[in-house]
Amino acid sequence: MILNIGKKAGAVNETHRGRMTREGIRIHETADFAGMHVAGELAARILDEIAEHVFPGQTTGEIDRIIEEKVNAAGAKSATIGYKGYKHASCISVNHVVCHGIPGDKKLKDGDILNIDVTVIVDGWFGDTSRMYVAGKLSRKAERLIQVTHDALFKGIEAVKPGNTFGDIGHAIQSYVEAHRMSVVRDFCGHGLGRVFHAPPNVLHYGREGTGPVLEEGMFFTIEPMVNLGRPETKVLADDWTAVTRDKSLSAQFEHSVGVTADGVEIFTLSPAGKFHPTWG
Ligand code: MF3
Ligand code: CO
Ligand code: CO
Repeated sequence: MILNIGKKAGAVNETHRGRMTREGIRIHETADFAGMHVAGELAARILDEIAEHVFPGQTTGEIDRIIEEKVNAAGAKSATIGYKGYKHASCISVNHVVCHGIPGDKKLKDGDILNIDVTVIVDGWFGDTSRMYVAGKLSRKAERLIQVTHDALFKGIEAVKPGNTFGDIGHAIQSYVEAHRMSVVRDFCGHGLGRVFHAPPNVLHYGREGTGPVLEEGMFFTIEPMVNLGRPETKVLADDWTAVTRDKSLSAQFEHSVGVTADGVEIFTLSPAGKFHPTWG
């Protein structure tokens, strides 16, 4: 989501069960984890199944069409169709596109890397996940970027447990990425979710240890670091969605939806087929 520091938390559906922290972060009940697992698994399964449809010559519009078909076939709803006027079941971000790439007629070329981001709603629960794919042959530098971005997400996830802070998550990601001489995008962040798509807090992918809200059991949110080979700055194109790196450097992103448990974390969007990383096969 677009980072908007200082934005008011907003009225997040008071009919929901559970309580809210003073930062406006909803604390869900134990029973709510099951709903998130169902929604998260569907989003992850669709990303598993889309892998075979990514190849040179394929259009991102066709990939999106297949995704929409799969969402409908599962009896679920796309969270992105109709969201702030967005018209597609996925965001597909190719090469120097950082996020929110709009599917269209452009054909993928050999060596293109792309992030596909899908959010579904099942029984009112939101499952939001994205991962990287390659059309044809993966270059060495793209492979390095994808590996570091993937591992940075898991550094962030490892920092999730009650008593740690959101700053601990951001710090784990940022320090890992910068140690590999790559940069973390600041202009977009992860977000709380549950029965809503984008809720407090802003989950920053950079930061200082011990800062930010304290993690509590029952918090649900995404971690979705965007990492650039070059500088971190982005700009949004005239279509008002597509975010690109200002220096045109390659960008990668991985996203999981997670929940804080009594002693750690559960990932709602694990790949049923074990295909989260693009070099799975
Ligand atoms: N799934 C994106 C996220 O991770 C949001 C996409 S909103 C859209 O938060 F409208 F661009 F699809
Ligand atoms: Co998200
Ligand atoms: Co997403």
